Amino acid sequence: MTTPALRLVGLDAYYGLAQALFGLDLEVPKGSVTVLLGRNGAGKSTTMKAIMGLVKLGRGSIEVDGRAVNGWPSYRVNHAGVGYVPEERRVFAGLSVEENLIVGTHYPVASVARWTHERVFDLFPALAGLRERLAGQLSGGEQQMLTIARTLMGNPGIILLDEPSEGLAPVILQQIAATVKTLSAEGMTVLLSEQNVRFATYVADRAAVIERGKVLAAGPMDEIASNARVRDAYLTP
Ligand SMILES: Nc1ncnc2c1ncn2[C@@H]1O[C@H](COP(=O)(O)OP(=O)(O)OP(=O)(O)O)[C@@H](O)[C@H]1O
Ligand SMILES: [Mg+2]
Repeated sequence: MTTPALRLVGLDAYYGLAQALFGLDLEVPKGSVTVLLGRNGAGKSTTMKAIMGLVKLGRGSIEVDGRAVNGWPSYRVNHAGVGYVPEERRVFAGLSVEENLIVGTHYPVASVARWTHERVFDLFPALAGLRERLAGQLSGGEQQMLTIARTLMGNPGIILLDEPSEGLAPVILQQIAATVKTLSAEGMTVLLSEQNVRFATYVADRAAVIERGKVLAAGPMDEIASNARVRDAYLTP
């Protein structure tokens, strides 16, 4: 067995005194596109925040490429090669598109520096013509692309995308889906959360179904999608 990109074992997480993850187990194989499925409030975002050191942890462990990262601050997890695109898009509104990319540029020690502005603009041609534009003036879809683009400039080996399709027009959604496929084809590990089942089944090769802070079922996307119980409860659009 090769070491998974991410391994969460028996993880508990809290917001203050309120527990949100209850012994959550998750493995994200290297090079996979793994999707977290689950209803509103199930714990998808909390799982990502736990990986990024943004919620209080209790019992359990988190490993990135076999290395325990429990208790690490976000920037350290990030420097270990994990890029994070949160639910709420975060662009620097007062900076231009190009300046946003500069701010995001980082070279984690262990990885080869691969992303350049040119490569990012090849991936998101829609942004190429907007280099000088202030990020705050972009549409929602453009801001989503810029957030992903800026995260890529940190040269992560693993990228966490929290509901990347949310609120996007179909044409933008297609572009984001194509982007995920391209990143995956280049060997990047992707963990995303999705409520859009069509998007999830199109991009992901593995799925984990979360309910009330626990993983109920996990495995290859086609197995999860054909599991009647899972399908009835979570995959009905
Ligand atoms: N900042 C917070 N403070 C307190 N409780 C929170 C906070 N954020 C989330 N929770 C709670 O933690 C649980 C898991 O929420 P989480 O945001 O992880 O769900 P989700 O699966 O991402 O849902 P959604 O699909 O709505 O984004 C929910 O019960 C939620 O109410
Ligand atoms: Mg969420």
